[in-house]
Amino acid sequence: MSTHQQAQAYNYKVVRQFVVMTVVWGVVGMAMGVWIASQLVWPQLNLELPWTSFGRLRPLHTSLVIFGFAGSAQFAASYYAVQRTCQVRLYSDWLTSFTFWGWQATIVIMLVSLPLGLTTTKEYAEIEFTGAVWMAIVWVAYGVVFFGTLLRRKGTHIYVGNWFFGAFIVVIAMLHVVNHLSIPVSWFKSYPVYAGATDAMVQWWYGHNAVGFFLTTGFLGMMYYFVPKQVGKPVYSYRLSIVHFWALITL
Ligand code: HEM
Repeated sequence: MSTHQQAQAYNYKVVRQFVVMTVVWGVVGMAMGVWIASQLVWPQLNLELPWTSFGRLRPLHTSLVIFGFAGSAQFAASYYAVQRTCQVRLYSDWLTSFTFWGWQATIVIMLVSLPLGLTTTKEYAEIEFTGAVWMAIVWVAYGVVFFGTLLRRKGTHIYVGNWFFGAFIVVIAMLHVVNHLSIPVSWFKSYPVYAGATDAMVQWWYGHNAVGFFLTTGFLGMMYYFVPKQVGKPVYSYRLSIVHFWALITL
């Protein structure tokens, strides 16, 4: 297939959009990291304002780098790899575009609400009720696009990288929904349905697995596609890569 034909056959526009936003959120999120790191050394940089204090900007840093930077990178990589390995265009151009704009809107909600002090106080899950519901809707749309593409693949085999991307999407949906179960009292204020120690346990079940899946599993999917591609050779042991997948999932 020529490069021009490929551009017609595959949706590279959304991949490009997510790559650009990976850079944008990477720069903004890490600049925020430099600022809060500096605040630890020079407390005057809190500026004695509530919305620029360490307590509000630290969750903003983690949200921007995890969901904005790492999230956009994984959207881009999974959308690129699933099309190439399944040899079909992404399922639904409209829904794919919705996932891009919807995800960027989620990050903007974080960018505005967290400095204002609107927070669940749960680490990596600080986004308050309305934002969390919106995030869940976008994530489900992502699942529909990814698995819809997978279902329309040419050939029966599912490349190992897609197993990792698929697990990342399913597990993050589960963690996000369970941890965010709460009773809203206003648009941006809610109380968890869990009490005391149960709430703390649910929160860190989420927190630890968020690192395991948001900052690990999707990136492994990325590696399984791009490392062999760059090296120009197949995965060293495909059988071992399947053992790797199930070892990670059952841990
Ligand atoms: C210029 C680069 C970065 C700087 C200067 C920076 C700085 C910081 C600082 C100062 C903290 C707070 C530490 C504390 O509370 O004691 C922090 C926390 C954190 N950062 Fe960054 N960061 C950077 C990049 C990143 C990136 C790229 C990621 C992930 C994609 C990341 C993820 C996190 C996480 C998950 C935490 C919370 C750690 C914990 O609670 O144990 N950071 N960062």
